[in-house]
Amino acid sequence: GASIRARIEEKRQAALAGGGSKRVAAQHSKGKLTARERIELLVDEGTFREYDAFVEHRCADFGMDKITGDGVVTGVGRINGRPTYLFSQDFTAFGGSLSKTFAQKVCKIMDRALQEGVPVVGLNDSGGARIQEGVDSLAGYADIFQRNVLASGVVPQISLIMGPCAGGAVYSPALTDFTFMVRGTSYLFVTGPDVVKAVTNETVTQEELGGAAPHTRKSGVAHGAFENDVVALARTRELLSYLPQSNREPPAPRFTADPSDREDAALDTLVPSDSRQAYDIKDAVRRVVDDGRMFEIMPDFARNIVVAFARMGGQSVGIVGNQPLVSSGVLDIDASVKAARFVRFCDAFNIPLVTFVDVPGFLPGVQQEHNGIIREGAKLLYAYAEATVPKIAITTRKAYGGAQCVMSSKQLRGDVNFAWPTAELAVMGAKGAVEILWRNDPDGRARAEEEYNRLFANPLPAAQRGYLDDIIAPSTTRRRIIEELAALRGKKLANPPKKHDNMPL
Ligand code: COA
Repeated sequence: GASIRARIEEKRQAALAGGGSKRVAAQHSKGKLTARERIELLVDEGTFREYDAFVEHRCADFGMDKITGDGVVTGVGRINGRPTYLFSQDFTAFGGSLSKTFAQKVCKIMDRALQEGVPVVGLNDSGGARIQEGVDSLAGYADIFQRNVLASGVVPQISLIMGPCAGGAVYSPALTDFTFMVRGTSYLFVTGPDVVKAVTNETVTQEELGGAAPHTRKSGVAHGAFENDVVALARTRELLSYLPQSNREPPAPRFTADPSDREDAALDTLVPSDSRQAYDIKDAVRRVVDDGRMFEIMPDFARNIVVAFARMGGQSVGIVGNQPLVSSGVLDIDASVKAARFVRFCDAFNIPLVTFVDVPGFLPGVQQEHNGIIREGAKLLYAYAEATVPKIAITTRKAYGGAQCVMSSKQLRGDVNFAWPTAELAVMGAKGAVEILWRNDPDGRARAEEEYNRLFANPLPAAQRGYLDDIIAPSTTRRRIIEELAALRGKKLANPPKKHDNMPL
């Protein structure tokens, strides 16, 4: 009676204590919060319900201690009022290393999430496979990977990297929809600096190899980085507000005081009259979406394309925009892959796509060709073509060549294609066209260029053929999009049945 109650209470307190006060102090001294502190910041106050707090590993080798909870805190809490399953790796307990029982705890909540149609957020801070457990630990990782894959496209999965994440551990975040890092305290790599040195003789620090900077700028492995744990958790709450709970439902609308018919005269002069001059497509997006707010994904990677969540008339939308400020908004390998993954996420989760087009084409070059711009560019084309969510595109200026076809064109089942009067839809720019057609007649080029511009450097040819549905005043863009989104709420479109597709990878 009384003694069992005392033991239960003792175990519960042990679970709350994790690896003990010394290790908690060490965690704090690195600028990191503990697993439980992170959960408290992530969920709505007082809503966390923990499972499996009493779990202990069953490994008797190496005279191992037991730490109740076994290095991970799992359960369900509310975020923006809606349930979210989560696991939070506890670095103070065995370095957050993954054992068989640890993996079972994570799998349990993932199974619940998948059955109930609820997102999963994983907070990663771990020394990897628990060395004392050997293959049991590896089996545990694979159990999680399998669930990541089954959940993909069914419930949103978000990974926060808030400490070490190395070896096999990296592949769970890699399988999830979004991976965010904390600057200075997190890193991701398949093998660390020591192994790199031994195998390739390269000398590199942890931060240089797998910190937030390389992964948000170069590799594109992470979708964003934040300055500390607190900001990372707050921004994760914000991201979830744009997403539905699962692919069975649309994202929840959110009230906005921003009038749906708000016009913005600044849009009428945003595109410079000199077509070689740059402007910021994010300026256009902010003037069009609710309250000027967007949540950018991969802001520091392939900045020649912008992808972001925003709302229009209270409804979540996925924004894709060529960015004329960076490399004239050209499509290269990185930009294509970045946007393709975003488009597919939106399509999987019933989020309409609003695309801002100003694209001079695909990037020429030996390096691009040899690295497979054909295959990689095809991913974006594929993503737009297969998407059945509402698709609205606004061509603000250039839409040249194959890139025009790719960017949510009418022929890829674009529902509504608008252009601003500044739009130029053509096979290529006037200069390039004239250099080819007037190859042998340099003197005629100036006149030919003028003629080409008059004929093609405007939206009329495309509008006359119905490839554009209308040419609109830029100031009215917000209203026009919101009207169409409302109409498209009833859209029904399905792709042919198949086991799965074979998109170019
Ligand atoms: N298995 C078992 N215990 C582990 C572990 C693992 N993979 N990784 C860390 N730990 C334990 C450490 O033994 C230490 O225990 P203690 O508190 O009882 O002393 C505790 O976690 C903290 O580790 P420590 O090395 O002191 O922390 P650190 O911040 O200095 O370094 C790492 C962190 C991750 C760089 C380092 O722990 C490490 O290299 N771990 C092994 C990584 C690895 O090779 N994993 C297996 C392959 S996936």
